[in-house]
Order: sequence, then C-alpha cells, then structure tokens
Amino acid sequence: MRLTDCHNFGDFRRLAKKRLPSPVFHYIDGAADDEITYRRNTSSFDDVDLVPNVLAGVETVDMSVEVMGQKMDMPLYCAPTALQRLFHYEGERAVARAATKHGTMFGVSSLATVSVEEIEKLAPGPKMFQFYFHKDRGLNDALLERARAANFQVMALTVDTITGGNRERDLRTGFTSPPRITPASAISYALHPGWAWNYFTKEKFDMPHLSGHVSAGTNLAMSIGDYFGSMLDQSMNWDDAEKLCAKWNGQFALKGIMSVEDAKRAVDIGCTGIMVSNHGGRQLDGSRAPFDQLAEICDAVGDKIDVICEGGIQRGTHVLKALSVGAKACSGGRMYLYALAAAGQAGVERVLGNMRTEIERDMKLMGVTSLDQLSRANLRYR
Ligand SMILES: Cc1cc2nc3c(=O)[nH]c(=O)nc-3n(C[C@H](O)[C@H](O)[C@H](O)COP(=O)(O)O)c2cc1C
Repeated sequence: MRLTDCHNFGDFRRLAKKRLPSPVFHYIDGAADDEITYRRNTSSFDDVDLVPNVLAGVETVDMSVEVMGQKMDMPLYCAPTALQRLFHYEGERAVARAATKHGTMFGVSSLATVSVEEIEKLAPGPKMFQFYFHKDRGLNDALLERARAANFQVMALTVDTITGGNRERDLRTGFTSPPRITPASAISYALHPGWAWNYFTKEKFDMPHLSGHVSAGTNLAMSIGDYFGSMLDQSMNWDDAEKLCAKWNGQFALKGIMSVEDAKRAVDIGCTGIMVSNHGGRQLDGSRAPFDQLAEICDAVGDKIDVICEGGIQRGTHVLKALSVGAKACSGGRMYLYALAAAGQAGVERVLGNMRTEIERDMKLMGVTSLDQLSRANLRYR
C-alpha cells in the first residue's frame, strides 16, 4: 500500500498502522475506556441527512472562512496534537508546511516536538497555540510569552484534561513519552525498522516548550495520562481562564467545551472562540459527541463567539453538516495524524487536498456556492 492508494480516512489509517510500531499507532488511534464516545463522534454525523438543492449554478464555489479573525482557504484545520515527531520524523514541520500550502490554520501543542520559534519561520499563516495550564506558573508564563513572540494569532486553553483519561490501549502497550524500550515494544520497533531508524538516528526527541522547566515527558518517560495527572493544575477554574484570556489579550478560545452553560461563561470571560470537543473521545468516555451537542451550543452563543466543531471528522460531508448546524469551521486530529505517519508532509498535503476536493464537490452537489448558504434547512434528523 502506497500514499497514492490513500483516498479516505480508513486508507491513511491502514498505511499509518503499517508504518508505526504498535504502541505509537495505538496512542494515536486509541481513546478512553470502552471508546464509545470515540465511535459516536463519527457515527453522530450519520443520524443527520443532507437535503440538497439543485440547478443552482455552481461552477465556482468559495469555501473560505474567517475564524477568530483568521482568514482560511478551507473550513477545516489541523487540531493541536502532541508528540508529532514520534509519528514521523518531520513532525510539526510537515504539518506546518502542508497547512500553509493549503491556506489553513494549524494548532501547535504545548507538548509539541518542534518549537514555536521554528514553526513561525515555516508557517507565516494562521497558527494556534494550545495551552496546557501547568502547576508550574513559570512554565505557564513562558508558554504564553513564547507563543506571543512567535506571532501565534490564536491561543486555545484546553479545559478537558483536568486529569488523564483512561486510555487502556496505552496501558496495554506501555506507551510513554519518550518511548520506553520494553521487551514487548522492542519487538514492535524491530518490526518497523524504518520508523526505528528515523527515531534513533535523527534529531533527538524533545519537547522544546517544556525544556528547562519540567523533565517529565522528555527526560523522564511518562504516560500522557500521568503527565496530565501530575503536571497540570487541577485547581484550574474560571478565574484562571479569565486571567489567561486577559493576559493574552487577543484571539482566545476554550478547547473542550461541551455544555451550553460553559459556552455562555466562555463568552462572559471574553473568549472569541470555543472548540466543542471531547478531545477525540480520549478523556471522558460516555460524554456526548460534539456534533450531537452542536445545535444547542450554536443556538446559545453562535452569534457572539466562533464555534468550532471538533472530533470524528472524516469526510467533507461531516464538515458541511457541522457548518449547516452553525459551526464556523471544523478541526480534526487523527484525520491528518494518520497521513503524517503514513508519509510525512506529502501525506498531510494529500489528506488536506482530498478533504478540500470533497468539500468542493459536496458544496456543488448541495447547490451552494459559499458556506454561508448552508443552514439547518438543508438537514433532516432521522
Ligand atoms: C495523538 C493525539 C494527540 C493529541 N494531543 C493533544 C494535545 O496535545 N493538546 C490538545 O489540546 N489536544 C490534543 N489532542 C486532541 C485533538 O486536539 C482533538 O481534540 C481531537 O484529535 C479531535 O478528534 P479527532 O481525532 O477524532 O479528529 C490529541 C489528539 C490525538 C489523537
């Protein structure tokens, strides 16, 4: 199987599975507990049908959007994800270049493996910095100031990782950051010599935003669940979020909002966006899917704040359904991570190109020439 054989989410996932040692693959692919929420995130889109209009003159369509003040050429961007150089040696560099090529935003995690300073040079376009609120206040200040100095336009505070989700696949494989070599994982690394060669011979694994502050995750191998549990501040509350928003003094979003009540509070503290998200089903299993929850949140705050639907996106039609309900844009994680693992920058370029083609085709088939023509009138719930 080659990159040119990858036409959809499942194809990229299969190729990623072939290329990655199993602990790394399952870190991306897995979710919390019984993974019910993870599956529901995608299947929720199947409970709603699109009702197209025809004869609309659709030879040219415009899929550009403005989200939190950022102009994007397509309504889908790359959600911030940790540890990308473990998935492909180019890591965030590949994603930064591919997102820039497609004129879309990409998020850089606090737990990224390439620094914001380097990413700024690769990607002049819209960038979001994802903030984890650590116990170490010096680290928090440094994260904020580095992102500001590197001209990141959007800050997103993740609010759904107050403790680690129960990711049982990681418990079984023993996945840690950096990868700990155990007898079982050694076999898997040996069976993936291409990955192992790159990991052991290329630039040493690092999380440059943490260096000099904490050794967990870089010099001290730790599961991501344990990192959340021990390094992040569980006392984080609305006051902290409000202060951070004021300190950033720019485009600011809460990532991981699921209730109408919290969406309204996000508006009250001065946020300009929210990601309706359950962290890709990796935290609270049994929580509702973002798409299921989208309508009530858009009804409550959609005219005051940019609402982003995130989780389970695999198809152009998923994006059109979310935008019809009222989201401004969508973002995806695994969608581009499998492509990164499969083929680096070329993979991410291909998946974003495929999604762009799908969105354009689906807009034409829906009879719309711009995204603001989508509305709930085009949807029917089963
Ligand atoms: C491997 C992986 C790592 C992630 N790392 C982070 C992270 O560091 N910070 C964060 O806020 N969200 C992180 N997320 C969550 C994503 O930002 C996003 O919410 C999620 O992937 C959306 O679901 P999807 O993968 O079904 O598109 C991660 C997700 C995955 C799959």
